[in-house]
Amino acid sequence: MSVGTRTPTGRPSGTAPGAPPAREDAPDPPAVGPDELPDGLVVADERGRVVCFNAAAERITATPAGEALGLSLERALPLEDLEGRRWWRLTDPYDGLTIRTRQPERNLLLPGGREVLVSARYVRERPTGPVRRVVVCLRDTEARRRTERSHAELIATVAHELRSPLTSVKGFTATLLAKWERFTDDQKRLMLETVDADADRVTRLIAELLDISRIDSGRLELRRQPVDIAAAVDRHIQAYVAAGQSPDRFRLRVERPLPGLWADPDKIDQVLGNLLENAVRHGGGTVTIDVTAQASPREGEEAATSVTVSDEGPGIPEESMNRVFTRFWRGSKRGGTGLGLYIVKGIVEAHSGVITVGRAASGGAQFRFTLPVGTPAYLL
Ligand SMILES: Nc1ncnc2c1ncn2[C@@H]1O[C@H](COP(=O)(O)OP(=O)(O)OP(=O)(O)O)[C@@H](O)[C@H]1O
Ligand SMILES: [Mg+2]
Repeated sequence: MSVGTRTPTGRPSGTAPGAPPAREDAPDPPAVGPDELPDGLVVADERGRVVCFNAAAERITATPAGEALGLSLERALPLEDLEGRRWWRLTDPYDGLTIRTRQPERNLLLPGGREVLVSARYVRERPTGPVRRVVVCLRDTEARRRTERSHAELIATVAHELRSPLTSVKGFTATLLAKWERFTDDQKRLMLETVDADADRVTRLIAELLDISRIDSGRLELRRQPVDIAAAVDRHIQAYVAAGQSPDRFRLRVERPLPGLWADPDKIDQVLGNLLENAVRHGGGTVTIDVTAQASPREGEEAATSVTVSDEGPGIPEESMNRVFTRFWRGSKRGGTGLGLYIVKGIVEAHSGVITVGRAASGGAQFRFTLPVGTPAYLL
């Protein structure tokens, strides 16, 4: 707690003088000190001198309260608008329009160019009377900026990812239309196959982006039902074998008994599909899948199921392990879009599970996710 951050009356800042007395039977409202507020709070008295400068304001402005208290608002908070104009001169709370009671939230600059969101309230004893206090609220924009930046990056990457397959679709169809007669059937087939594969890529990318937007906005909906995860893994293996992979490429080990698992079967399929695809595409050798019972990662629940997918490929370099779950990260040129593991992590976490990456005994990559039983509340 910093010195001098109390209001002069020592009254909690939410209680205005002259506020109606609390009802007898109502419990006393908790006394919230200015330093407990998550946002910066600066209060100036009727002469415009700073009388309160809370801890968050110190942090946001990098000015100790001791220096700010007693200064004029303009000196304690030398805010400028984005055109470089002094904000307090512009708004003039004390001598400006007497009907004004507040300043809406605005993006302003502190010295050094640091951005803050500022809103203010002019407290008057009576409407249009002189200003008794100016209460200023400061909010850090760093976190908001960061999300805005990451959205802008996402859009740029998405546009780039969509452009290359579409360029190929456009290029091949245009060539075929213009010079249809000049190609042999084999050449035409090859071109149409490429167009087909690229169209699939665009469709898949768009489906992945929709998943990402649901994950990022917390709107990923789970339709939980009992899931036999060992059977689900087996189905994936059978699909690979049917598609031409050798059955020796996969080894499934299931430790029984397994606790029951309530999860969204489609989403769990997506997780397994991505991890197995990565092991087959980026890894090598035999892909081993271990399904075991585990202690739950969630407190107050004992059981969980964990699935470990290990391969004998090159593995993931130690220095990249903390990046594999970020979107668009791919280790080599051979990678896909780099969204698979980001989505996997989003789905596992939506199930209150955890996922980790490590090195298999054979040196390959090893991904392990653990899902709590997840019995819906109405069955407990
Ligand atoms: N089993 C593995 N062995 C080696 N490297 C892997 C393995 N799994 C993933 N990686 C590396 O991690 C990167 C990111 O994987 P991720 O699944 O997120 O994207 P992707 O497979 O490249 O594309 P997408 O899954 O979106 O089609 C891959 O590009 C690859 O370099
Ligand atoms: Mg992948």
